[in-house]
Amino acid sequence: MKLAIFGGTGKTGQQLVQQALAAGHEVVMLARTPSNVTLQHEKLTVVPGDILETNPVARVIQGADAVLSVLGPRSNKPEFVISRGTDHILNAMKQHHVRRIIISAGAGVRDPQDKPKIIDHVFGFLLNTLSKNAVEDMKQVVEKVRHSDRDWIVVRVPRLNEEPSQGTLKIGYVGDISSQLSRADMAAFMLKQLDNDTYLRKAPAISN
Ligand SMILES: NC(=O)c1ccc[n+]([C@@H]2O[C@H](COP(=O)([O-])OP(=O)(O)OC[C@H]3O[C@@H](n4cnc5c(N)ncnc54)[C@H](OP(=O)(O)O)[C@@H]3O)[C@@H](O)[C@H]2O)c1
Repeated sequence: MKLAIFGGTGKTGQQLVQQALAAGHEVVMLARTPSNVTLQHEKLTVVPGDILETNPVARVIQGADAVLSVLGPRSNKPEFVISRGTDHILNAMKQHHVRRIIISAGAGVRDPQDKPKIIDHVFGFLLNTLSKNAVEDMKQVVEKVRHSDRDWIVVRVPRLNEEPSQGTLKIGYVGDISSQLSRADMAAFMLKQLDNDTYLRKAPAISN
């Protein structure tokens, strides 16, 4: 498949790009600082630009079979960059007839099917207090994707780590999962959703 990847320069994004290329996909990714992308591959195209710029976002998406986003706020300022950029992604998908979008968000972005335990409420309170604007940005991202007419899947995750793939995953809702996830396993799960409809228009939470 030809994949449009956003957030490919981040910690999970690098895993996602590498795994996508290793699986034989063609990848077009957006990068604010292309010189930071050290990976070179004949099937990798890097488009310079910011998620807040419509033209580069459209260039990444044009001709893609699916969009994958592991974008995340780099600060807690009330700028809501990722949700504003999500408008550009969804508009470009419509314009270029790209149906499928798989995005990530923190498990602090709740779903009606969640059954949070006391510890989840505590973590949620701390997160909303310490990273209020970043959490609000990602809540808005998920709302926009949920209310779009695209074929969406939101993959919600707890604290991420650099451990190698653990091979097994807990998949469910908040209350079912544990507190850690390997970025390698997260990337692999997102790539599996490209041709699997089990979680279509759903927002599962996953962990190791
Ligand atoms: N870290 C955690 O423990 C954790 C926990 C729960 C959920 N999550 C979610 O999991 C996902 C991946 O997390 P991560 O820690 O791997 O991410 P990360 O390393 O913080 O990477 C964030 C990515 O978003 C990109 N980005 C931010 N603003 C942008 C803009 N204006 N234009 C273009 N790109 C922009 C960054 O690009 P630059 O490289 O140019 O800055 C980077 O590629 C995110 O959705 C995050 O919200 C993370």
